[in-house]
Amino acid sequence: MDLLADNRDAISEHLLSLGWISAAEKIENMTSAGEGNMNRTLRVTLDSRSIVLKQSVPYVARYPDIAAPVERIAMEAEFYRAVADQSELSRYMPAVLGFDPGNHLLCLEDLGPSSDFMDLYDPDERGGDTTAHNDDLTSLVSWLSELHVLPNLDRRLPRGLDNHAMRELNHAHIFEIPLTAGNGLTLETGLDSIAEQFTNDEALRERATALGQMYLGRKPHDSPKVLLHGDFYPGSWLKHPSSGIKVIDPEFAFLGPPEFDVGVLLAHLTMCRYEQPELARLLDNYIPPPGFSHTLVDAFAGIEVIRRLLGVAQLPLSATVESKITWLHSARSMVLGG
Ligand SMILES: Nc1ncnc2c1ncn2[C@@H]1O[C@H](COP(=O)(O)OP(=O)(O)OP(=O)(O)O)[C@@H](O)[C@H]1O
Ligand SMILES: [Mg+2]
Repeated sequence: MDLLADNRDAISEHLLSLGWISAAEKIENMTSAGEGNMNRTLRVTLDSRSIVLKQSVPYVARYPDIAAPVERIAMEAEFYRAVADQSELSRYMPAVLGFDPGNHLLCLEDLGPSSDFMDLYDPDERGGDTTAHNDDLTSLVSWLSELHVLPNLDRRLPRGLDNHAMRELNHAHIFEIPLTAGNGLTLETGLDSIAEQFTNDEALRERATALGQMYLGRKPHDSPKVLLHGDFYPGSWLKHPSSGIKVIDPEFAFLGPPEFDVGVLLAHLTMCRYEQPELARLLDNYIPPPGFSHTLVDAFAGIEVIRRLLGVAQLPLSATVESKITWLHSARSMVLGG
């Protein structure tokens, strides 16, 4: 069953056979659920309710010539299952209404016409008010903090949540491609020369390799292994006018170092142009587990800044090239630990 808007009859029949809709329900409309690249996502409007369907395919849905692990939707489903009974976490996520592993198809509660947080990268959208989103960000940081102390992981995830294929994919994009000479990426003038410096920087590359090994679970860390969201950035957050903030898209989730999620968050808040002491205030709501390393957070944050500015997955940043260069230099120091 292909989750495509022009495949309405087959989708309708399939939903009926799964019991996800009843015979009395008719599909009134099927439209894109929102912006996304990796998967197929559709909002299905029925007479009296709507649902969101998400289907993974063995490639990036928007770029079919790029292969991607099809089992990612099962990883996402496992994450949702693992947190379902923890209301402090699950109430900030859509409810799972069904999972059809054979068709790599997930049925989610429709959070409604929410907006994502991608405009956070453009502070002009905040009308000069640096505190405009502080309540939402505080809630998101608290959510992450709760996630990282989720108890009984062995019981919740008896097979673990290795998500190895997705980690391998991300590993290449985060820790390797941006620091590899001749990676074929075209960068804006000013960033290209830094990219060249960085690809020749043995210390930086060595540290990135070590961080990458930790990300892949091949190098130990002092902090406990926790359940990570794995992609905790503004594209994974939604805001609904009445029900508030939501976290979606845990397809990169895995059991690993909490510093990775926090580092990614720190990197994105930096690129949203939050500065000290605002940054520190926001992150203050994160309660670090024992053994947690702020140096490691900085290192993961640095590598995330580097990969977002010099790698494939670029962001809608409004910052000047001068700001980006400043971020890159400080990112390098953070990766190297000072
Ligand atoms: N449960 C939901 N309720 C309402 N809207 C949703 C829901 N799930 C997803 N969306 C919308 O669809 C968009 C894409 O969803 P999602 O990020 O899960 O897909 P994706 O293919 O994994 O995206 P990406 O390529 O960014 O990883 C979201 O940004 C959001 O606008
Ligand atoms: Mg995704």
